[in-house]
Amino acid sequence: MTIKANVSLLALNTLALPGRAEFFCRVASDDELAAALAHARTKKLRVTVLGGGSNVVLAGDISGLVIQMATRGIEQRQQGGASNTVHWTVAAGENWHQFVQHSLAEKSYGLENLSLIPGLVGAAPIQNIGAYGLEVSERFVSLRALEISTGKTLSFSNGDCQFGYRESIFKQGAAGQFVVTSVTMALSQQPNVDISYPALAAAFEHTAGRMPSPQQVGDAVCRIRQQKLPDPAVQPNAGSFFKNPVLEKDRWQQLQAQYPQLPGYPQADGSVKLPAAWLIDRAGWKGAQGQGCGVHREHALVLVNSAACSGRQLLQLAEDIIVDIKQRFGILLVMEPQVFGATK
Ligand code: EPU
Repeated sequence: MTIKANVSLLALNTLALPGRAEFFCRVASDDELAAALAHARTKKLRVTVLGGGSNVVLAGDISGLVIQMATRGIEQRQQGGASNTVHWTVAAGENWHQFVQHSLAEKSYGLENLSLIPGLVGAAPIQNIGAYGLEVSERFVSLRALEISTGKTLSFSNGDCQFGYRESIFKQGAAGQFVVTSVTMALSQQPNVDISYPALAAAFEHTAGRMPSPQQVGDAVCRIRQQKLPDPAVQPNAGSFFKNPVLEKDRWQQLQAQYPQLPGYPQADGSVKLPAAWLIDRAGWKGAQGQGCGVHREHALVLVNSAACSGRQLLQLAEDIIVDIKQRFGILLVMEPQVFGATK
């Protein structure tokens, strides 16, 4: 492991925003990670962990040590008895989508709806990735993590992680305190596909009630994502830029009376989640251009870096959208990606 000074992070974030790490290292094993953390403690450097850089807004340079996870390793363990359950323990540095594909090829099912989500396995529980009717928390068993301040290894159960919609303890009370080293998930050898999400149901309309295989569901998810979401290699972006707001039922009913076409997804607790994309689209932002950045033409929830913008310019566009949506609909949008680096 080599620690370098003054390293550009432009190629390491999918929004292709400029910004430099004061110090930077790439760790290929948990021992290297432990050594990097020990170095940071000795030198009193603040630690920032970078996964795939696909859910990050680089607002400027990052002081301290930036650690990029590059650990590898996938293990499966059949659970005892007549159970169809297989536990998969996956190193934090493994690519999420490649792991999903691998699990399907090994006839372990349950993650097909989360196909093609960018980023690394270690980041998946941090923001509780979710798509097409499934959140990773529904398959999550436990994770192992190193505590940055002590180097101690800790284990977190599903309950410990306090998962919510795009939320976990690692974005709240424990933010910046741990580095996830591996994640264990429970998958099934028995296919049990869920195609109830509208876009997915539409993709299988013609199959006359025949249930698709998990691989077919995974393939359909990939096609839908490729149609709707821009490829970061072509148009730099970080996926959904805002969380979908969740409203109390009364508030939702008032809004729906005003905007009868507003879609809403009832939640278990009676609240209603609504698509931020619809609000942003309706407010006329789809395809709008800011300074060097804009709102994607095909999906209003995705901001794209169209002409080498800075993090500040992108955050300004986000702020303009937030203010406008608040004025029009009385709803406060919350950004989804994490902001790293100094806003000068
Ligand atoms: N819509 C518009 N205009 C648009 C796009 C969408 O009005 O330009 C409306 C439509 O009514 C559509 C609805 O928004 O039916 C929902 O759109 P979509 O199915 O694309 O889902 P989303 O709510 O915008 C969420 C996740 C995505 C995930 C999809 C599919 C969040 C913040 N985003 O988006 O996650 O892939 O559902 O499940 O929850 C990500 O986190 O980066 C991400 C892409």
